Amino acid sequence: MTKVGVIGIGFMGRTHLEVYRKRRDAKVVAVADLVRERREGRTAIAGNIAGAAKEGFDFRKVTKYAEPMDLVGDPEVELVDVCLPTPLHVEVALAALRRGKHVLVEKPLARTARDADRLARAAAKAKGLSMCAMCMRFWPGWTWLKESIDRKSYGRVLAAQFRRATNHPGGAFYSSGEQCGGAILDLHIHDTDFVQHCFGVPKAVSSRGYSSRTSAIDHVVTHYVYDDVPLVVAEGSWAMTAGFGFQMQYAVNFERATAVFDLAAAKPLTLHERGKKARAVAIPPGMGYDHEIAYFLDCIRTRRRPKTVTLADAATSVRIVEAEARSIATGRPVRV
Ligand SMILES: NC(=O)c1ccc[n+]([C@@H]2O[C@H](COP(=O)([O-])OP(=O)(O)OC[C@H]3O[C@@H](n4cnc5c(N)ncnc54)[C@H](O)[C@@H]3O)[C@@H](O)[C@H]2O)c1
Repeated sequence: MTKVGVIGIGFMGRTHLEVYRKRRDAKVVAVADLVRERREGRTAIAGNIAGAAKEGFDFRKVTKYAEPMDLVGDPEVELVDVCLPTPLHVEVALAALRRGKHVLVEKPLARTARDADRLARAAAKAKGLSMCAMCMRFWPGWTWLKESIDRKSYGRVLAAQFRRATNHPGGAFYSSGEQCGGAILDLHIHDTDFVQHCFGVPKAVSSRGYSSRTSAIDHVVTHYVYDDVPLVVAEGSWAMTAGFGFQMQYAVNFERATAVFDLAAAKPLTLHERGKKARAVAIPPGMGYDHEIAYFLDCIRTRRRPKTVTLADAATSVRIVEAEARSIATGRPVRV
């Protein structure tokens, strides 16, 4: 049983609390949030993925802190789960690692690649285990895709196209390009990271995009350049008009099949294999959040360093996103 402290009880903090609530191998013993109503569980939470942040967690039995560092110093807490706004991730995670705790950090790992590298370097030497919550690496349907690519089940990948689009989430944090980094860092990094997971670090990126709701890039399309995969493209946006909802999808062309998945559509993950009838692919229940936390708790229980995503991988994803932003600014491809 791992004793957990969750810091930042907003959309993601509530989502993680809901995951821990259902688990037998973890117990949340402390929460921290500057806002009293939040640390006492008295605010309703809305986010972009329906059903993620529910309100079933019982706040009565946990120690409540206003200051993140007070939770980090709580001797009962073994795993510090950082769900704070992005610019606060690094200092809190570093403090937790210094105290020998295990650390789960929400994505993006840090506001800048430089800070992300600093944290990844410290984590590599720390006694506690650490992981960045890059949830797409654990998301049912996306894990099937990664396995199919690795096993070459339908031949090589000829083209992979990812898309994530929504209307702007609102609120002070997501309205500040300085704080959240715009959709390119906050939202699109999910696809950048999944592209890295499937195909490795691209040689270069060629991106186009624009700002709308923040001073940073809020809608981006990137071509990730590889020698061995002809076409890898991802689009990320929170510049859609209110009411658009949330789309998270992929279409991948293998040599012998096309796989299509759209989380928002009523259709299942569908495989169109050459010479066969289109078929639905069965995927496990749950969301990436459930599976990433289950995986990290298992790593802690068995004292294994996480492999599915390392802090170095998460830092690399921030670096690739920064290259994408430079490509937009210069209008040229940028080597990664
Ligand atoms: N994995 C995903 O799919 C996903 C989805 C949404 C957000 N996120 C990430 O999670 C992080 C948090 O996002 P969110 O949507 O939950 O934000 P949020 O604004 O809903 O929640 C942040 C919480 O942190 C608290 N807080 C802010 N500064 C604090 C401080 N100094 N000390 C203590 N508490 C403080 C706020 O009061 C708030 O309750 C961001 O890095 C975001 O990118 C990840």
